[in-house]
Amino acid sequence: MFDFHENHQLLVGTAGGIFLFLSLLIAVKPAYTVQENNAPLPGSLPANAEIRAGMNVFIEEGCVACHTQQVRNIDMDKMWGGRPGIPADYAWRQRIDNLRATPSTLGTERTGPDLTEIGERQPSETWHYLHLFNPRTVVKESIMPAHPWLFQSVATVGQYDNELTVLDEYRSGDRGHIVPTEKARQLVAYLVSLKQVDLPGGTTAPPFIAYKKASPTVGANAPGPGAATALPDGAALYTTHCQACHQANGEGLKGAFPPLKSSAVVNDANAELLVQIILQGYNAREEYAVMPAIGAKLSDSEIAAIATHERTSWGNKAAPLTADFVKKIRETVKTETTGTASR
Ligand code: HEC
Ligand code: HEC
Repeated sequence: MFDFHENHQLLVGTAGGIFLFLSLLIAVKPAYTVQENNAPLPGSLPANAEIRAGMNVFIEEGCVACHTQQVRNIDMDKMWGGRPGIPADYAWRQRIDNLRATPSTLGTERTGPDLTEIGERQPSETWHYLHLFNPRTVVKESIMPAHPWLFQSVATVGQYDNELTVLDEYRSGDRGHIVPTEKARQLVAYLVSLKQVDLPGGTTAPPFIAYKKASPTVGANAPGPGAATALPDGAALYTTHCQACHQANGEGLKGAFPPLKSSAVVNDANAELLVQIILQGYNAREEYAVMPAIGAKLSDSEIAAIATHERTSWGNKAAPLTADFVKKIRETVKTETTGTASR
């Protein structure tokens, strides 16, 4: 009866049947299950069409070749997010249209940092524009390619154009005013919107799988007397939290980020405003961009270490700060209702 040599219809029919069965089982059913069982997390839907359009620019420019957007559940990914990613984090990304599938923004390779929380880490639009125009303007050693085609040179600048202050060495002979194109605006709106949303109340996130830790050695590295008051490494903290904008040499960038070298605020004998700025952000002057609040997530001793580094580097010669001083300022800041520090 099952004579595949003689009955070719039976042969093709059987092979076709097996193919259909396996496709349904291995591809269609899992995809359907994932689609049915994952809804966007509350608060994760993009706020507007500009952000959606920005995601398309992200895909079109091939950013995914060098940047992931996935926090894996392993210890080394802790630096990219507060919790491991879950399928619901991606649920708002739907098919672009009938001919184009759901975009994969997860990425597979990290030539550059993971961008899951870039909006949290770097909320400054000005920084993103400068970085996209030419990454070297803000990160000297960057190997990320420049994207000058996302910007245009105009003769007159409109009120809402966000003109970039670009040093001559980063221009190709052009002396016009450099402003972002619509695509650059959409892309930056998308980037600053990227944040992990909290899981709905009561839900616990999957844990990070920790590396097996070596048992702590007693004695050799135990903190000696006075270690409790010693500050962490201010220079390293400055590199992580401040250098992207104020630069390694403390000189900032003209028209975007002010110098901390010889700054009256940094060198003031009364360091109250300096600590307030780190805690609350700063938006005092037209000629500069807005500084986001950075200190909320830093401890008192970390802030004291950063401030001390700034007060004693690049020729600055002001007195060091203590964690206790920062603690006092943090308490006064908490009780105030105003947002950003002001002069
Ligand atoms: C060839 C690889 C490459 C490509 C393509 C690339 N990047 Fe990068 N990107 C990097 C590297 C390397 C860094 C780290 C150095 C730096 O900050 O410039 C980086 C840094 C960044 C940062 C700062 C991350 C942080 O944590 O400070 C952002 C934002 C960013 N890239 C966005 C983009 C966007 C948007 C695109 C697409 C338009 C893109 N990148 C394309 C390699 C790349
Ligand atoms: C995203 C970019 C950015 C980052 C990161 C950043 N700043 Fe700022 N900072 C600014 C901008 C922009 C201003 C100017 C705001 C204004 O005057 O309107 C500023 C102003 C300041 C000032 C006032 C300087 C003066 O002379 O008026 C101090 C002090 C300062 N920042 C310290 C820090 C410290 C410390 C850190 C790290 C903990 C930090 N900043 C990280 C953007 C940034």
